[in-house]
Amino acid sequence: MKVWFNPSKAIESELTAIAAQTEGFGPDFVPGVRPADPKFGDYQANGVLGYAKRNQANPRELAQRLIDAAIASGRFAPDLVTLSIAGPGFINFKLSNAFIWQWQLDFSKTEDYRSGAKELKNGRKVVIDYPSANTAKQAHIGHLRPMVIGQAIARLLDFCGADLTRDNHIGDWGTNFGTLIMKIKRDGIDLSQLGDDALVTLDQLYKDGSALETEQPELRDISRNELVLLQNGDSDNTAIWEQIVEISKVAFDKLFVQMGVEVDITLGESFYRDKVERIYQELTEIGLAEESDGALVVWHDEVKKFARDNERPYPFNIRKSDGASNYASTDLATVLYRVEELKAEEIVYLTDARQQDHFQQLFLTTEKWFKSKRYPLPEMNHVFWGTILGSDKKPFKTKSGESIKLQELLDEARSRAFDVVTEKNPELDETERRNIAESIGIGAIKYADLSSNRTQDYIFSWDRLLSFDGNTAPYLLYAVARINSIFRKVGVDPEATIEGASPIETEAEQVLARKLMGFVTALELTVNDLRPHFLCTYLYELTSAYSSFYNADKVMVDDAPVKARRLILCARTRTVLKTGLELLGIQPLERM
Ligand code: ARG
Repeated sequence: MKVWFNPSKAIESELTAIAAQTEGFGPDFVPGVRPADPKFGDYQANGVLGYAKRNQANPRELAQRLIDAAIASGRFAPDLVTLSIAGPGFINFKLSNAFIWQWQLDFSKTEDYRSGAKELKNGRKVVIDYPSANTAKQAHIGHLRPMVIGQAIARLLDFCGADLTRDNHIGDWGTNFGTLIMKIKRDGIDLSQLGDDALVTLDQLYKDGSALETEQPELRDISRNELVLLQNGDSDNTAIWEQIVEISKVAFDKLFVQMGVEVDITLGESFYRDKVERIYQELTEIGLAEESDGALVVWHDEVKKFARDNERPYPFNIRKSDGASNYASTDLATVLYRVEELKAEEIVYLTDARQQDHFQQLFLTTEKWFKSKRYPLPEMNHVFWGTILGSDKKPFKTKSGESIKLQELLDEARSRAFDVVTEKNPELDETERRNIAESIGIGAIKYADLSSNRTQDYIFSWDRLLSFDGNTAPYLLYAVARINSIFRKVGVDPEATIEGASPIETEAEQVLARKLMGFVTALELTVNDLRPHFLCTYLYELTSAYSSFYNADKVMVDDAPVKARRLILCARTRTVLKTGLELLGIQPLERM
């Protein structure tokens, strides 16, 4: 007996094939299978209704015909799935206990889930642009979300079969380098002597440089000149710039290790400096870009807020009036490079919500430009997020109103988690408590960030994110650790095959087994919308279903087949939770 890993996708393709052979259905028929309200079944196909309406047919009749053909095809074994007609012409699918139980037996390891989920992205070439920070600035709380959301989405895409390139598009070519170089030269600073806190010093040098420019505006010309020199390849300025980029890299790499951020390539804005000329040429040649007050701009008149008849027309400015490239031209050159050189079919960009207009203009420009040039157009998605707020509902800051340094936030998470662990488990030795605190502390910060819908703001609260109750990392990590302790007690390896189990029977077993299968739906939802909170919600619900099961049905019973099947359910819960946590970038623990 073979069951489907992803029933909704499998039913969709089976029904499509069957309808193609069934009278009354044309090639444009789409079954439209989705998870159903559990009152009615596991899945529902909604496609017949609209199809019948469009073709002036009787929907119930058509639905019944499809059901009959499906059963006759032998692809829907009656002991595994029941089909029934519902309402005005829906088809309901109810999986039997035998199906749900067989699913637990067939798919038991992370690798099984991975190979089942692979078809979701199916080898698609995806470039994810993250965390893409600007150089020469210390990481602060604003860098948390690109790292956390970015790595979760990257792991999910990879798990679901994307051929993924993580491209760290650092901002290493901004106008700030003029000011920075001016200040460095003025003070005669040797960057190689800065030592461990070099980035902190650079951060300060830039602030001091800007302040100086405000006091003595004539310095602005010097800064601007330093920038022009750099852009023209002056060797002194290039050497300084390279040191600055290196200092940033070293500092960020340290954070990446702590945060679990992985990148495959780092092609910063500077990489595209000799590639923007082609953009100006092509966009002008096809009549998309035009000069305006000395700048080169692209108008998108069809979008009201960008249109020229608006009071304040707002074009996509792709070359400054002084001839310099900018964020837009660089991003256009980047799209082209990703399509031509990296063969990207899909590009996912991660930034905060304030850059929505930029990406809307970038996508529109690319679409028109690529169509005109007949370049293959990639799918482009902007994954954006809201602000992290303090308890006063204002952007989260230190008491004195400064931005919170990311390193300080991580250190505080570790130390607070250490206190919590020590209080719960004073008998563990210190090294182990520190290890546990590492996973809980960093995991809790990540989970708090991932579990709320990313497009909304959320309130940062230490008490809440470190709580062992509710939709938090400690709650989920603790569930895994508890299951591990059950297996230690019975002396069974949770990864080993457990033989001699009888099929599930009780209500709590069925509910849990169904919920375990829901992992597939949760993955699909999460990766389609690129919203990790769907996976978080699922893991939380799974943990609750597991608790209900554990409270209702004893695992350590004398009846060996019953005990074996309940142990299997424990083992599966553990695997799904561990897999899900790892996808979110959270390290599961053996014990806590
Ligand atoms: N460096 C930019 C920032 O810090 C984010 C870059 C995002 N990626 C891109 N291709 N525009 O705001």
